[in-house]
Amino acid sequence: MTTSAVTDETKQFTRTPGQRHSLAHIPGEDGWPVIGNTLKLLADPIGTVALFHEKYGPVYRSRAFGYRSVSLLGPEGNELVLFDRDKNFSSAAGWGPVLDQVFPRGLMLMDFEEHRLHRKALGVAFKTGPMKSYHDALNEGISRRIAEWHLEGGGQGGGAEFAFYPHIKQLTLDLAATSFLGIGLGEQARDVNGAFVAMVAAAVGVVRKPVPGTQMWRGVNGRKTISAFFASEIPKRRHGNGADLFSELCRTTKEDGALLTKQEIIDHMSFLMMAAHDTLTSSVSSLVFHLAANPQWQEKLRAEMQSLGLRPGVGLPYERLGDLNLAEMAFKESMRINPPVPAIPRRAVRDFEFKGYDIPAGTGVGINPLFTHRMASLWPNPDQFDPLRFTDEAVRGRHRYAWVPYGGGAHMCLGLHFAYMQAKTFFYHLLTTSRISLAPGYKPQWQMWPIPKPRDGLPIRIERL
Ligand code: HEM
Repeated sequence: MTTSAVTDETKQFTRTPGQRHSLAHIPGEDGWPVIGNTLKLLADPIGTVALFHEKYGPVYRSRAFGYRSVSLLGPEGNELVLFDRDKNFSSAAGWGPVLDQVFPRGLMLMDFEEHRLHRKALGVAFKTGPMKSYHDALNEGISRRIAEWHLEGGGQGGGAEFAFYPHIKQLTLDLAATSFLGIGLGEQARDVNGAFVAMVAAAVGVVRKPVPGTQMWRGVNGRKTISAFFASEIPKRRHGNGADLFSELCRTTKEDGALLTKQEIIDHMSFLMMAAHDTLTSSVSSLVFHLAANPQWQEKLRAEMQSLGLRPGVGLPYERLGDLNLAEMAFKESMRINPPVPAIPRRAVRDFEFKGYDIPAGTGVGINPLFTHRMASLWPNPDQFDPLRFTDEAVRGRHRYAWVPYGGGAHMCLGLHFAYMQAKTFFYHLLTTSRISLAPGYKPQWQMWPIPKPRDGLPIRIERL
């Protein structure tokens, strides 16, 4: 069994970091020796890409994070790469350098036919029956936690400052322990969560070798801890009737009727937890900020939730998720402004052509949801929070790949319904019980890369209604 993220089909293209393909005919710049444009991109990911777009147009070459690549900006580029009609682009070879050491063999690290087979097998865990069970765990965990937050935030009329980001990060971890892993919030969950947090940090760590003391070293050790936990649980989960995502995967079969192997379950579960964790933490924080900054929208969402006529304390039934239209539009709008995956990498496995440029096989190719989501030609007043951009009519009038927070095509986010479910359930509990606000004059400080997060922990006020 191979432990590399990269299949034979794409292997030949993965050993080319830094190698100069014949890209000289493509406009762009390599930046500084060794570091390329890395520092510029880290300091100002929006402004730097906007400047390159202005200078070079929607197709340009650059060098950053140790790799030379070609960026394709805008909805047509997104469509070409994500829809990938001609199977030109490898996700495994694109994401491999970031994820291979701590999250190998996750779904995004597979391509083409192998990817199709595994995606189909995993899809079973996202059908309505299992989703309802996860939702029960979410409803319960969220309502209990928000009641605790009220105490910390000062209760009714509460004026205490409340750092939202670390709280939602912990809640997302704890919800994953129950709905993903089916374990209570005891010592075991603390160990698993700690190991998992180390793995996520390693994936974006600067040092890429597991040198003792580095994030990568902690991440690789975290992977050992998590693997041991999964391995010890798999035999009993296969024969049990657990309703959590891990138990579902332990019973899932592939097209040939065989169960997923132990190693496949370990790799898929680790990857699923990673794919869900920071993305949900980031997107929920972003909407909390926008609703606190726009009380009129907060009021509209609250009114929609109250109009469901549910008894206080019973939670949001799964069947009513579809009734929260304004909440869904507001969530989409906050992911437009702060897409949790701001850039998506691929590597070309065949020569291809785009906007008159011939681009050779082996080239690293990137698309940029963060840039596309702020193109003024698609989104008038792009910095303004306006959920009405997501009415059915407005959506019909736009390019299908103008809004791509979940990607698209074969690798489109498998957990997007889970994400809507968790976000809507969270905001239902939050807004029907509390009012959120910002201190006068508060200016947000978002770090957009690699995943948008508030640098200052997002201080809000949370007042029990
Ligand atoms: C707001 C929350 C989320 C956002 C914005 C998001 C975004 C994305 C994006 C952009 C991709 C595609 C990347 C690419 O094409 O290279 C992706 C893939 C994926 N996501 Fe999500 N995600 C979210 C939540 C979740 C959750 C909650 C889960 C699991 C429960 C999940 C599981 C996955 C998986 C398994 C893939 C790989 C799909 C494949 O390769 O076929 N995601 N996600």
